Amino acid sequence: MCGIIGYIGRAEATPILLDGLRRLEYRGYDSAGVATLLNGTMEVRKCAGRITNLAQLVQKDPPNGSIGIGHTRWATHGRVTDNNAHPHLDQSGKLALIHNGVIENVEQIREQLLSQGHIFRSETDTEVFAHLIGRIFDDNPGPRTQRSLMESFRLALSQVIGTYGIAMFHVDVPDVILGARRGSPLILGIGKGQNFIVSDVSAILAHTREVVYLEDYDVVSIERDNFDIRSLAGTGTSFQVSQVEFTLEEAEKGSYPHFMLKEIFEQPEAIRNGMRGRLSKEESTAKLGGLNMSSRELRDVERIVLMACGTALHAGMVGECLIENLAHLPTEVEFASEFRYRNMPMNKDTLVFAISQSGETIDTLAALRESKRKGHRTLGICNNVGSTIARESDGGVYMHAGPEIGVAATKSFTSQITILTLLALLLGRIRHLSSAQGIDVISALENLPDKVRQVLDLSDHIADLAAKYAAAEGFLFFGRQYSYPIALEGALKLKEISYKFAEGHPTSELKHGIIALIRPEVPSIMIMPDDAVFDKNISSLEQIKARKGPVIAVASEGRKQVAVLADDVITIPKCPDFVSPILSAVPLQLFAYHLAVKLGCDVDKPRNLAKSVTVE
Ligand code: G6P
Repeated sequence: MCGIIGYIGRAEATPILLDGLRRLEYRGYDSAGVATLLNGTMEVRKCAGRITNLAQLVQKDPPNGSIGIGHTRWATHGRVTDNNAHPHLDQSGKLALIHNGVIENVEQIREQLLSQGHIFRSETDTEVFAHLIGRIFDDNPGPRTQRSLMESFRLALSQVIGTYGIAMFHVDVPDVILGARRGSPLILGIGKGQNFIVSDVSAILAHTREVVYLEDYDVVSIERDNFDIRSLAGTGTSFQVSQVEFTLEEAEKGSYPHFMLKEIFEQPEAIRNGMRGRLSKEESTAKLGGLNMSSRELRDVERIVLMACGTALHAGMVGECLIENLAHLPTEVEFASEFRYRNMPMNKDTLVFAISQSGETIDTLAALRESKRKGHRTLGICNNVGSTIARESDGGVYMHAGPEIGVAATKSFTSQITILTLLALLLGRIRHLSSAQGIDVISALENLPDKVRQVLDLSDHIADLAAKYAAAEGFLFFGRQYSYPIALEGALKLKEISYKFAEGHPTSELKHGIIALIRPEVPSIMIMPDDAVFDKNISSLEQIKARKGPVIAVASEGRKQVAVLADDVITIPKCPDFVSPILSAVPLQLFAYHLAVKLGCDVDKPRNLAKSVTVE
């Protein structure tokens, strides 16, 4: 949510900032801006709209300098206007600041500064933040040095309540950019003769792969050949330099028209990567060393709680079925945003998981902290290596799905389900699952990437279906058992990127009210693979058809009855029920994608959304 980048080096900053902002645009795309510094002159360009608007502005009148900061915004405080775009300046006009986060005591600080004669040009909390730092620096009687700027910066940070990932520079103290984080991600990129501060490593992969994932309350200063990381109190702090695992190519679209399509097609590989080295045929189980738990400790677990938001929550719901069915362990899924305020009774043998692709979702992070505060062992299932959730959890499992840039989550969903299947297998093998059953799970998992590939081959057929139903008023998605979360996820994908009204329901709830919505203008997508409730699903399909509702069925191959009853069928390969959610999810991702493309929607940057929600 909001992307920030700071650069100091020997090259022109603006092209580097613009390239970085394009790669950060998935974090927010309401407005964008840059500020640069050259020979005591600051230049700012900013405007509402996409990075392309900013690029045009910059092309007309390029800001110069080898120091600069850039921002792409997802509006929180203040409307989407040129004035509200970042960077924001202080009262003197010499300090430029970019910010990702929300300052909660902004009104109090604004009042105080207004009484001192400050004039604000925007409606944002960030501008108030800039004025506060500038005020403290201007009131400092000493010489205007890097040290006094840093002291003012730290003092201002200690006065704000809220979250921030920020970067700033000041005209009077050239050759340094300051940054700090609390609750919003911030990464230091270490280059040769150049250094960076960014929200996400993908923005600087063309320049360096050496990074430090900053911690909350870290304060950083970067110069061309140096950097310094300290605590908010000004003392030295320990940090680790890491190498980014993925390549620039992986973070680019390549020949695909959209990141979303690329990521849908990457699923066979992502699933394979999630399983790599984690399946043991000798012991017919999964090995998840990152959990940092012995078999004895895992056996003592009495209950599992899975916390997540959005698509990750739907993966958690599949995980609930998997763990209950394969391991017979009571499992609950909680909206992370509810968990943190709910005070749910949990006994001491409860094991908690936070599931998050980005590892930065603020609600999931807050839920993790609340769970840990209560003394529960809390583990993470994350994709982003070095993310806050990954670092703050007591252990966990990385998904290894590679970078996911499309705002609509796709490969992270099936990767999360894959990891949860491994977890269910591991927990099951400690409890009721026999060695032979364990081997069955392993072979189903091993066959999965090829089966996903077969579903991907249906992309053209699904594009035709999307075109056929593009004029529909809305869609209903139905599924039972493992397929119910897939109905929710199918509806979410469609809503997110095509803006069509869509709802997911358990198929059996049809007759308890939803049937009132059935009519020719509202197609139903029924997820009905071969499983224990297949015949019940057939009855529901008949009930919809009896009311003239069009039906697209997602069904296993060889089910002639479905082809006779449904208007259209998407056929998935036969598989055990516990891997069917992955195979059913893929065609629904493709359906949403093709429908959105057909309707001319901006698939990778849907209206109002952001990929990583780092504000509450
Ligand atoms: C946002 C995104 C969703 C995502 C959810 C959780 O709402 O728009 O696509 O599923 O956050 O994200 P996470 O990174 O925690 O998996």
